[in-house]
Formats: sequence, structure tokens, C-alpha cells
Amino acid sequence: MSDNAAPHVLPPLPYAENALDPVISSNTIGYHYGKHHKGYVDALNKLLVDTELAELTLEELIADTAGKSDKVAIFNNAAQLWNHTFYWHSLRPQGGGEPSAGLKQIIDASFGNLDACKKQLETAAMSQFGSGWAWLVLEADTLKVVKTGNAGTPLTKGVKPLLTIDVWEHAYYLDYQNRRADYVKAVLDKLINWEFAADNLG
Ligand code: FE2
Repeated sequence: MSDNAAPHVLPPLPYAENALDPVISSNTIGYHYGKHHKGYVDALNKLLVDTELAELTLEELIADTAGKSDKVAIFNNAAQLWNHTFYWHSLRPQGGGEPSAGLKQIIDASFGNLDACKKQLETAAMSQFGSGWAWLVLEADTLKVVKTGNAGTPLTKGVKPLLTIDVWEHAYYLDYQNRRADYVKAVLDKLINWEFAADNLG
């Protein structure tokens, strides 16, 4: 993923806006990518005008502003820019199914089997109170499922993100209204991009 300094840009979607239909409609993607994701980019660039933080790459910016009470707005917009780009890549048309052998081996070693891994992602997504994210991450040699609230990102927690599911209401409300569980299950069964997770394993 691109990681340049300011002005930050909205990275292209890795597929057409209607490519995830009917699990996620083009209407949802239109607002989510075209308005929300773009909104974070625009807000971040405004906040960085005439600051030395404008020299930092996006990942450096997130690391530099995390946990700083006077940099909350910059952190939130920078992390949301990064999280959303990562989310689009965590999905793909005709996703779901079985991971490749290498990834499956570490999933089995970490969770027992793929279903148990998916179940933990579902539970994290459902138990995140309010807005946030469910993540599959690599910590040392083990996979774990974690959740973050609002703009929180595992990038700042010493683990390597492999996949994410956005559980902000803007990710599903147009298609699923209050049925977050239906959205999460459909994403895991039909869109989740195990190839992206395998690539992130390195
Ligand atoms: Fe979102």
C-alpha cells in the first residue's frame, strides 16, 4: 500500500465499486469509500498544513501521534485513512473459502481450525461496542484476533495486521441496517481475502 508524505491521497479501490455486490452494495461503497474514506484524507491534509508532521509518511505519522492528547485529530484521521485502505484490501469479490496451505497451517496452529478463527473474528466484531474494527494479527509466531475502537489500529501495538473488518455502522447500515452479525458473517463467508492475509504474513 502506498505510504507517502503529505499531501496524502485516497488510494484507488482494488476493485470496481459494484464488485462486492450483493454482500456490500455499490451504494455502500460509494459512501464508504467516496465520502468517509476520502473525508479522512481531506481532513488529515488540512490538519497537516504548515506543520512539520507533513514530512512524515502515513505510518510514521500514526506512530508519532498515537496516544498524544494534543494530536488526537491527526491520529484519528491518519489511522482511519490507513485502516480503510487495509480494509478494502481485506475484501475481494468471490472471497471467503479456504486459505492457502501455508496460512492454513498457522491458522490451525493458532486457533485449532479455520472455523474457530472465523468464530473469533465474528465474536470480536460483535462485541466491539460502538464503532471500531476486528483484526486478524500476527504476534511473534502466533495469529490472534483483536478489536480496536473508533480509529484504533494494531499498527501501534507491536503486532502485524493481516486482515480487518470495519464494524462502524457506515460499513453496513445501508445494506444490513442494525444487523451487524449478518454483515460480518457474509463478509467472512463471501468476501474475506485470505490471499491478502497470506501476503501480509511475509
Ligand atoms: Fe469505515
